[in-house]
Amino acid sequence: MKIIVINGSARKGNTLTAINAFVKGAGEKNEIEIIAPDKLNISPCMGCGVCQCHKGCVAKDDTNPTIDKIAAADMILFATPVYWWGMTGQLKLVIDKCYCRGMQMKGKKVGFIVVGGASTDNIQYELIGKQFECMAEYLSWDILFSKSYSANGKDELAENADVMEELETLGKNVK
Ligand SMILES: Cc1cc2nc3c(=O)[nH]c(=O)nc-3n(C[C@H](O)[C@H](O)[C@H](O)COP(=O)(O)O)c2cc1C
Repeated sequence: MKIIVINGSARKGNTLTAINAFVKGAGEKNEIEIIAPDKLNISPCMGCGVCQCHKGCVAKDDTNPTIDKIAAADMILFATPVYWWGMTGQLKLVIDKCYCRGMQMKGKKVGFIVVGGASTDNIQYELIGKQFECMAEYLSWDILFSKSYSANGKDELAENADVMEELETLGKNVK
């Protein structure tokens, strides 16, 4: 499969650690590219609607090449830290821009990874999970997995051998 990972974190921390563990498992049998929105120039969606009767977004930045890659993928992995009970702005920026190719985003396989400082019984994971579920229902996505982890310090998740193994196994088993 062609897998696109969208990394919602700008720091080399827990989200990237989680992504790398998944990629370790999935890398052998799949073609994987990680999109780092913080390294790109993607303007916020203006809601102008021109994309609905025009090929792609009107913005002359990294939007269209990024959305092209996502539209061409078989699977999308959304990975984000929790910022203020939600996904990060970096990830949301890219998701909002998917609007310009909405129907080409249909029927994908998807995975969700959320990492927050609070323990996993905090309502934030349910809120973010529900938002992802609504997107999945709207675009007929097949949710392969949805995982929430608690880690705060930059290297904390890496110290959790069970989580590392779980993510690697998830990667190995995607199809
Ligand atoms: C701006 C900001 C807002 C945050 N908001 C929350 C929050 O609402 N809930 C939470 O549990 N952790 C929150 N955190 C902590 C991060 O989710 C946590 O440190 C996470 O491990 C960061 O992931 P990273 O290492 O991949 O960047 C916040 C951190 C930042 C920088």
